[in-house]
Amino acid sequence: MTDVPLLLFTWRGSVFRVADGVQPPKAGSLFFCRHLTVRPGERVLEIGAGLGLAAVLAARAGAIVTATDVIPAAVESIRANALLNGVAVDARLGDAWAPVAGERFHVVCTNPPQMPTPPGRDRDDAEAAADNGGPDGWALLDRVIEGAPEHLERGGRLIFSIFEFLGLKNAHEKLEAVGLAPRVVARETQSFPRIGYERLDHLRAIDREASLPAHGLPRTVERYIIEGARA
Ligand SMILES: C[S@@+](CC[C@H](N)C(=O)[O-])C[C@H]1O[C@@H](n2cnc3c(N)ncnc32)[C@H](O)[C@@H]1O
Repeated sequence: MTDVPLLLFTWRGSVFRVADGVQPPKAGSLFFCRHLTVRPGERVLEIGAGLGLAAVLAARAGAIVTATDVIPAAVESIRANALLNGVAVDARLGDAWAPVAGERFHVVCTNPPQMPTPPGRDRDDAEAAADNGGPDGWALLDRVIEGAPEHLERGGRLIFSIFEFLGLKNAHEKLEAVGLAPRVVARETQSFPRIGYERLDHLRAIDREASLPAHGLPRTVERYIIEGARA
């Protein structure tokens, strides 16, 4: 008999092992997956796949999936969870676009770390990698958006999630700046994240589109799924 616990997450008929050091799916993960539509045969890349929830579901829907993460335990989890669910996912270790240099996809998607991080508060552990989005929340997303045109097929789509305090108008402008046509795919009201309360002053300082109440504690936050389409 072993004394080591086994944490499982099950959703939509799939089962996922939650390994040590890999963030279990949260409300944002489910919101992201619910609005990630892929067609059979499409080449799909997920950047920052965590334990592989979206990647495995996309593979189950018939897509040819590559999934990356910067944390080795996450990449192992993606491989293990693909096996567990009887699908193929090409799991690769590395930062942002590095693992897919020179490759193009029909869909690139990410539910990235995006919690704005006050100066001096970043760390280099797995939990920080899952949450911290640099000073304004856009650290990884900016790089994903910048690289998207050279990794998307014609007619391809970049799909990502944001908290409203990152700025909806900002998101549209960033996509337009690289030639992608922006569109809001979905909006959902979620509980305000615990880590957001710890950083509320910083969030108010970067909230240029005034989405947060100026006084008192917010109870909820709006989240969006955004698409940028390549012509
Ligand atoms: C918010 S979690 C999302 C995990 C999963 N996709 C989900 O929706 O539950 C963000 C993930 O991005 C990974 N990540 C952070 N920085 C990265 C980078 N520079 N390149 C690739 N992945 C990164 C983290 O390790 C983490 O697994």
